[in-house]
Amino acid sequence: MPKYDLKGRNVLITGASSGIGRGLSRCFAAEGGNLALGCHPSDKAVLESWCAELAGKYGVKVSGFPIDLAEPGGPERMYDSAKSALGKVDVLVNNAGILHYGHFADIPITDHEALIAVNVTAYLKLMRLCLPDMVKAGGGRILNVVSTAAFQPTPWHAAYGASKAFMQSLSEAVNGELRGTGVKVLTFNPSYTRTPLLARGGFPPRVWWFRISGLSDPEDMARKAVKAFKKEKPLHIPLVRNWLVHSILIRAAPRGLINRLSTLVLREER
Ligand SMILES: NC(=O)c1ccc[n+]([C@@H]2O[C@H](COP(=O)([O-])OP(=O)(O)OC[C@H]3O[C@@H](n4cnc5c(N)ncnc54)[C@H](OP(=O)(O)O)[C@@H]3O)[C@@H](O)[C@H]2O)c1
Repeated sequence: MPKYDLKGRNVLITGASSGIGRGLSRCFAAEGGNLALGCHPSDKAVLESWCAELAGKYGVKVSGFPIDLAEPGGPERMYDSAKSALGKVDVLVNNAGILHYGHFADIPITDHEALIAVNVTAYLKLMRLCLPDMVKAGGGRILNVVSTAAFQPTPWHAAYGASKAFMQSLSEAVNGELRGTGVKVLTFNPSYTRTPLLARGGFPPRVWWFRISGLSDPEDMARKAVKAFKKEKPLHIPLVRNWLVHSILIRAAPRGLINRLSTLVLREER
């Protein structure tokens, strides 16, 4: 039974120009939400036409903000832009993300820094910016798109998994602190999904792990995310096989064993 009605809510979504974020923006618009959408400035034209398409199809207010979240002041500009376009932010969807595949020590330090800026600092700052008004209003939701990578180390994209573990811990702890305020922080934790994130980050086309996890469809993941969001699930791992692995098996097995297996199954298959 859905608990949170999205009709007329003001929703800020980062990383809405492609992949899961594009699917999320479609679903939130279909539910009647007014949207402030973000993307990297390189995708300005794509975002502009996506905003026009959503507004025309669903009759909701949609504004686009191509702002680099990795730049100093980027998250603050995103928040201020969304607030002036919508008046207030009822729902924050932290979704923009990047990944770099390879040996940790071979990946340029600037790439590691950018990953932390987008996957961690921008999420944290946007939460910190939105929460005071939400608490004052006695309601509001934050949906952090995290990953199954949050639950164990991810060799060959080590900083990515670490960024997701940070966000999982932060989301759960802040959600606990908010009990009784009417505000909730929820996480959505998909496994590997067919989006530009993997190709751009140099993720190999084949790793053994895909035989278990599969490669999900971003639109399907977005629908599942919004369904879980409306039911106010605090943490949602879509697809039973991935839920079993990441909620049950990985927690029961010795951590050293999981790390050794992860090193093997996440390595490029030739
Ligand atoms: N794909 C997977 O296997 C997978 C699995 C689990 C979780 N996730 C998570 O799902 C979320 C969405 O990823 P996706 O797979 O849908 O990837 P995607 O299609 O590459 O989308 C990433 C979005 O983030 C935006 N972005 C990247 N860097 C940015 C920056 N510096 N400033 C502003 N926006 C920026 C991108 O904008 P541009 O397109 O303009 O660059 C794009 O809109 C991420 O948090 C990711 O970690 C993905």
